[in-house]
Amino acid sequence: REPGCIAIDGPAGAGKSTIGEHLARRLGYLYCDTGAMYRAIAWLALQKGIDLNDGPTLGKLAEQNTILISKPEIADGRQYTVIIQGHDITWDIRSTQVGRAVSPISAHPQVRSILIAQQRTIGLQGHIVMVGRDIGSVVMPDADLKIYLTASLRERARRRHTEMVERMGEHNPALPSLEEVMSDVERRDNTDRKNMQPAQDAIIIETDNLGIEQVLDKICHYVEGNR
Ligand code: C5P
Repeated sequence: REPGCIAIDGPAGAGKSTIGEHLARRLGYLYCDTGAMYRAIAWLALQKGIDLNDGPTLGKLAEQNTILISKPEIADGRQYTVIIQGHDITWDIRSTQVGRAVSPISAHPQVRSILIAQQRTIGLQGHIVMVGRDIGSVVMPDADLKIYLTASLRERARRRHTEMVERMGEHNPALPSLEEVMSDVERRDNTDRKNMQPAQDAIIIETDNLGIEQVLDKICHYVEGNR
């Protein structure tokens, strides 16, 4: 049996997207980052000045706007291209502002139900690695393999900060300090917690002391075990 869907869940900075993309490439699978969908709605909500507490309006926003996620056609380090209402927001959804708005927005059941249904449709195509918070528990409860990646708060904040330094440049005045990144990640952990329970049957991998290849090898070992 070949796993048609591999779910990778875990908190911010646990390495889900790096691992997810590499794993998909190794296996020749599609890769879907569900966090980008929540971020796209958060970007649009900020753009339109919608109150982050207004669940019904945010739900409508998610319902009425198609998020297009496609293969990267620009070689600027992007994993995929995200387009909403004709805007290429691939990098904009990584901003500090979107990072702060996305958790409260994605806590609304009206937003979740719309995006979860879309994600399920994507996941059911099979041969796909899906990364998020609730893939193994809610979106694809029948996924063949469920991984929950985690790491300490300090390590996750350090990884996020390193990514930002690489992207923005070390002398960029807009670059937040490691402490700021850490408090943002912690705040997001707290808001996300209720959507972040690992599935009962998820394999938990602690990544503090593991490199990308080591995590990939561990997961591939389980993939082999599933065949
Ligand atoms: O994975 P990423 O950090 O890009 O996710 C951004 C936010 O989107 C998370 O902090 C969480 O609030 C939300 N999210 C979610 N469910 C998912 C993926 C992301 O609620 N499956």
